[in-house]
Amino acid sequence: MAEITLDKLTKVYPDGTEALTGLDLEIGDGEFVVFVGPSGCGKTTALRMIAGLETITSGTVKIEGNVVNDLPPKDRDIAMVFQNYALYPHMNALDNMGFALKMRGVPRREIESRVREAAVVLGLTDALKKKPRTLSGGQRQRVAMGRAIVRQPQAFLMDEPLSNLDAKLRVEMRAEIARLQRDLSVTTVYVTHDQTEAMTMGDRVAVMRGGLLQQVDVPQVLYERPRNLFVAEFIGSPAMNVVMADITRSDGDMWVSFGDHRLRLEPSMAERRPALSGFEGRQVVMGIRPEDMEDAALAGERSEGRGLSIVCDIREDMGSEVYVHFNVPGEPVASKEVVEALVTDAPEDAEARLAAERARGAGISFVARLERETQARERQSLELEVDVTRLHFFDPETGLGIYDKL
Ligand SMILES: Nc1ncnc2c1ncn2[C@@H]1O[C@H](COP(=O)(O)OP(=O)(O)OP(=O)(O)O)[C@@H](O)[C@H]1O
Ligand SMILES: [Mg+2]
Repeated sequence: MAEITLDKLTKVYPDGTEALTGLDLEIGDGEFVVFVGPSGCGKTTALRMIAGLETITSGTVKIEGNVVNDLPPKDRDIAMVFQNYALYPHMNALDNMGFALKMRGVPRREIESRVREAAVVLGLTDALKKKPRTLSGGQRQRVAMGRAIVRQPQAFLMDEPLSNLDAKLRVEMRAEIARLQRDLSVTTVYVTHDQTEAMTMGDRVAVMRGGLLQQVDVPQVLYERPRNLFVAEFIGSPAMNVVMADITRSDGDMWVSFGDHRLRLEPSMAERRPALSGFEGRQVVMGIRPEDMEDAALAGERSEGRGLSIVCDIREDMGSEVYVHFNVPGEPVASKEVVEALVTDAPEDAEARLAAERARGAGISFVARLERETQARERQSLELEVDVTRLHFFDPETGLGIYDKL
């Protein structure tokens, strides 16, 4: 078991691609950390650098406090599980799982006992004599896990190990891997582009984008206090609804308005976000999660300044709940790419694209997750009640969440 420390870890590939920029992260002994982010954000690159499969351009990787930058992979005592688990087709499950130990000259009896032990944990005892092609997808995935476990490494690194499995099996295996990791308490770094997988499996989740760490924290904090718009929109499904809004004050109350809607910010809410008062008379980006709206007809008591009168465009029945899509005649938030360009390299270019986005101005699609008892009907009006205590606010200039500090 081991603690892994990444210090300003950076990777520039020979063709000039900067895949990872200054990643700082301390992964505790026995901790399960998930790297998540869209395709190409540098997850695999980071993992391969920890494993020693990729050279480090600058920065350091430490395992148990020792810099391992120049240590070959085989001396790092780390086991990797990949997406295509590449089992040896001619060997049965038992031999596949024991192969690395055999190569290391571990006596046959010990190999057999370690493999059998792992097989019990993995529920593979009855499959040990089977060749890969006669195993199910989930069993093959477990054999690949078993191969890593029997080595009793200091850490596991897993790169999208479930992406070859069908949806149902993926859900099962993600619970199994999480349980296994807890039982073995081996430090684990797990890579995925699936935010649900990340949120359900990780002790902590590191959200990455374009080679840069956006935020790392426990799942609940990422959900409740996303550091910026990118994290806010990436975490949660369906994604957070966002719109440009105005903050005003009247009769001592703070109001947020967008399109023809107006919501009252309760004093407790304004108190929890003192920085918000700095935006009075200005625009902010406001976010509402789909689950923080309900059908007012089903809500208990109604209170002023919490309602949205909308027209239901599309009703989607999910069984356990209903998604209602509707249009808000507000101003769209600049797309993530535009915000990024505004603050970085090509501001003029970005201004032009932003203007174009706003000119399109057909309004913004919102989605609300309602209880299945809702009577919402397509093309009919509907009153929604917003949990205004859970609204999110972001600075339109920087995309950063507006919390307690200015
Ligand atoms: N060998 C390489 N040479 C040049 N560029 C590379 C190389 N490997 C990866 N890259 C680039 O580095 C960036 C990060 O790639 P990486 O594989 O780490 O992304 P990822 O987050 O794992 O994406 P995915 O979710 O698609 O697996 C990408 O822009 C990719 O094109
Ligand atoms: Mg990858």
